[in-house]
Amino acid sequence: MTILFSMKFQHNLYRSKNFTLTSLLTMLLSMGFLFASAEVDKAQWADGKSLFKSNCAACHNPKADGTGPALMGVTARWEAAGDFKGKTGKQWLHTWIKNYNDAVGGGYKYAVDMAGSRPSAMNLFVTLKDEDIDKILLYVENPDAGTPATAQVAVDTTAPKEAEGPGATIYLFVGFLFLLVIILVGVTNHLDKLVAEKNGEPAVAKTPFYKTGNFKVALFLLAIVFGGYKTVDTFTHFGRQQGYQPTQPIKFSHALHAGTHKIDCQYCHSTANQGKHSNIPSLNTCMNCHKQISKGPKYGTEEIAKIYSAVGWDATSKTYDLGKAKPVEWTRIHNLPDHVYFNHAQHVNAGKVKCQTCHGNIQEMEEVYQYAPLSMGWCINCHRNTEVQFSSNNYYAAYEKIHKDLKDKKIDKVTVADVGGTECQRCHY
Ligand code: HEC
Ligand code: HEC
Ligand code: HEC
Ligand code: HEC
Ligand code: HEC
Ligand code: HEC
Repeated sequence: MTILFSMKFQHNLYRSKNFTLTSLLTMLLSMGFLFASAEVDKAQWADGKSLFKSNCAACHNPKADGTGPALMGVTARWEAAGDFKGKTGKQWLHTWIKNYNDAVGGGYKYAVDMAGSRPSAMNLFVTLKDEDIDKILLYVENPDAGTPATAQVAVDTTAPKEAEGPGATIYLFVGFLFLLVIILVGVTNHLDKLVAEKNGEPAVAKTPFYKTGNFKVALFLLAIVFGGYKTVDTFTHFGRQQGYQPTQPIKFSHALHAGTHKIDCQYCHSTANQGKHSNIPSLNTCMNCHKQISKGPKYGTEEIAKIYSAVGWDATSKTYDLGKAKPVEWTRIHNLPDHVYFNHAQHVNAGKVKCQTCHGNIQEMEEVYQYAPLSMGWCINCHRNTEVQFSSNNYYAAYEKIHKDLKDKKIDKVTVADVGGTECQRCHY
């Protein structure tokens, strides 16, 4: 379902008339690769990795057993299981990944044995295309090719924080003026003394500079400048809440789920690359796993019981009725004012910005807090410093293709609909 939606929203690339041609080409290319050699195509590998992360990583790891088995070497395992009913082992593997029931129902022995091997079952991925599956397999067979996996979660420390603002500069400037006043007063006093000595006048005891009228006026002006700055500063920060960390109704830990168990962010926050908002997962998503997992390492059954009571879980029949469920009231942490338009898809999908760049190392947080200031300076500073990611980016590839087709006279006009103008999210929040 997620895939279906992301395809629909991701970009008009998928809707363009030439998509079938493009997909056919990529398919041929990826098949060519499989026959040719073990050299890894970087772009395909990267696509495979991101498909794997968003669809499979919740249960699988290429190299280690999780809810599902380790997947490295899986192609060879299915090929070794042999042909059946006119389909090769590889083709049965594709069938399994799309809908394991079809492979089991088809009577393929390896699949039948596999299905009975573990207490939980695969999700269905009926919308995954064969070329996507090939990309995923390319990744799981070569998990260490391409960029190091650690880059995925590392926080981009070069990410611009809030603009320093006038703060530091003003303090420095005021300090400098103050110093200048003291030095100048010192110099005039000294000159006065020299002149007096030269004229043979007796040295008069001068009033110290901090008792002079001029100094008092300067001090007063300084107080006004400083006080004014502070007032303006306080009001522009009003409503901002960097560091905000409310207590949530269920002690849900990102460190445990996204950190220890490496569940992909978008398994739960699945709309982050499709639309304006990133959703908070429904209880149904929690129950995908918590039907089986009723006890946690820290709170035992206490916290998970709250999910059960909210969905009305019947432990004997192992069923629940979402119609009767009462939603958990999570306290919202991030909240921009209504007059600011922020779109997750624009950043996550088109801009390829990592969640952690804006939200910090969420996968290490027991309780989520607001990492970034969410000030205007923060947005603007990043826009000044961040390069647009044009290469291997579906979002821009679609535009490039339109330009090319216009030039090659394959098409003679481009409507707003062709560049996404009928997508619901473009007009609706
Ligand atoms: C909800 C958990 C879950 C998700 C998500 C999931 N799987 Fe699985 N997968 C399993 C389980 C469990 C098994 C073991 C078979 C069984 O018990 O039904 C399995 C088995 C497999 C197998 C057979 C492994 C072997 O050794 O032959 C393959 C291949 C596979 N999964 C691929 C994938 C791919 C590709 C994705 C993502 C598109 C995916 N799975 C997503 C749970 C999952
Ligand atoms: C198993 C599901 C799950 C996974 C995986 C997950 N989250 Fe969450 N996330 C939640 C839930 C539930 C909440 C609401 C409760 C809370 O704030 O802790 C939430 C809250 C958040 C919030 C705060 C939202 C607000 O109220 O402003 C952010 C930001 C966030 N998640 C980012 C991430 C990132 C980044 C990752 C991956 C590193 C991730 N999440 C992985 C379930 C998940
Ligand atoms: C993809 C699987 C998965 C999903 C989805 C999931 N969890 Fe979990 N959850 C786990 C695992 C694994 C554990 C740890 C079990 C263990 O270590 O024994 C766990 C443990 C917990 C615990 C116990 C923590 C403790 O330390 O005692 C709570 C509470 C919890 N999850 C809440 C949630 C909530 C709320 C959601 C939905 C927003 C959710 N989980 C979604 C896999 C999942
Ligand atoms: C460019 C910075 C940026 C990136 C990248 C980013 N977020 Fe956000 N996120 C924000 C801002 C800003 C808000 C507050 C939005 C609002 O109040 O309308 C937010 C809010 C959220 C929320 C609360 C619900 C909402 O949409 O208001 C969740 C959950 C969330 N982000 C998760 C994620 C996840 C998961 C990722 C990665 C897939 C991610 N974010 C990537 C900046 C970012
Ligand atoms: C970590 C860096 C980063 C931060 C922080 C950030 N952005 Fe962006 N933003 C980007 C990138 C990268 C793009 C370009 C995406 C693309 O290729 O179209 C972008 C694009 C946008 C666009 C679309 C511009 C256009 O005309 O296509 C809007 C609107 C936007 N950001 C709003 C915001 C707001 C509002 C905030 C602060 C709440 C914010 N951004 C914070 C990196 C950032
Ligand atoms: C080009 C902009 C645009 C696009 C794209 C768009 N809408 Fe709308 N939509 C509107 C406007 C404007 C209204 C308000 C109409 C009114 O108040 O009479 C609206 C109203 C609605 C309403 C409220 C009911 C109604 O008829 O007033 C729904 C539901 C809706 N849209 C759903 C969708 C869905 C689903 C999609 C995607 C298939 C979509 N919209 C795409 C502009 C758009």
